[in-house]
Amino acid sequence: MNEIWTEKYRPRTLGEVVGQKHVTERLKAYVAAGNMSHLLFTGPAGTGKTTCALAMAKEMFGDEWRGNLMELNASDERGIDVVRGKIKEFARTAPLGSASFKIIFMDEADALTSDAQAALRRTMERYSRICRFILSCNYASKIIDPIQSRCAIFRFSPLSHDDLREYLERIIELEGVDIDEDALEGLIHVARGDLRKAVNALQVSASMGRTITLDTVYQTTGMADPEAVKTMLETALGGDFFRAREMLDSIMIEYGLSGQDVIRQVHSTFFELSITDSEKVRLVDKTGEIEFRIVEGSNERIQLEALLAYLVMIGGGRR
Ligand SMILES: Nc1ncnc2c1ncn2[C@@H]1O[C@H](COP(=O)(O)OP(=O)(O)OP(=O)(O)O)[C@@H](O)[C@H]1O
Ligand SMILES: [Mg+2]
Repeated sequence: MNEIWTEKYRPRTLGEVVGQKHVTERLKAYVAAGNMSHLLFTGPAGTGKTTCALAMAKEMFGDEWRGNLMELNASDERGIDVVRGKIKEFARTAPLGSASFKIIFMDEADALTSDAQAALRRTMERYSRICRFILSCNYASKIIDPIQSRCAIFRFSPLSHDDLREYLERIIELEGVDIDEDALEGLIHVARGDLRKAVNALQVSASMGRTITLDTVYQTTGMADPEAVKTMLETALGGDFFRAREMLDSIMIEYGLSGQDVIRQVHSTFFELSITDSEKVRLVDKTGEIEFRIVEGSNERIQLEALLAYLVMIGGGRR
């Protein structure tokens, strides 16, 4: 009951991985050959990088996978000491059983300091006969060139709408989740290609113990109903500052949002408003300034109200 769904439904084999066919086909070829080079996985969060690394190690080593794989995740230290200590120690010892090499998988490799990356590069070269690395990161640009050039690079893409839907529908059926059709679409929309985010939001929503509606989805993902945000902005543009301010209150309270959450959503709503392009440009400029002030610690209520006042002024120029 308390099991985390992202772990429970994490694919165990490369064949079960959703989407990323351009990646999994090449990885399966390594498994078939029983050999691989160093690999660099790049791409957004929750798209299957860790999943593919684990699945590949299991397929490559069979029952001996545990002893031949070392997994370093974000909670481990990322300085040069780890590279010289723990990593080197594992890399230089012989593989177990019938395996001809070991694998070190490192999540968030872009968090390594440049000194640590330089040391890692030497370890990769020195023990490459018996140890292969799989490095995972969001942006390849943060990995030094000499490491990049030693790795085969695999780019993971955000998952498509259909892939997200198929995966979520499977969990919904197996867990007997009660969810509205538009709530499911909303969930896919807010996940933006991140399967971990979608599954976590589904589990949190389901734990509330009633039919999942679009509102439940917004509440569990730290977003307000986009229609409510749009109506608030239109009300300000229409000149009713006080009504818009009440709407701001209820959005923040009802959805439990911070000033930064609101400003981010306001920003993505401008393009749906029926105002001219030059008015949009002024708004985006103003929003950038206000977002900066909020991040710097200024009172978020005052800043958000200032934005509504600005909308009233823009609207006033057209009335
Ligand atoms: N392509 C996928 N196919 C099936 N499940 C996936 C896929 N991508 C993500 N998931 C699901 O989301 C969870 C997180 O995925 P994973 O750990 O592979 O993400 P990641 O790409 O390594 O993300 P991060 O950059 O945050 O480390 C998995 O446990 C699995 O449930
Ligand atoms: Mg990962």
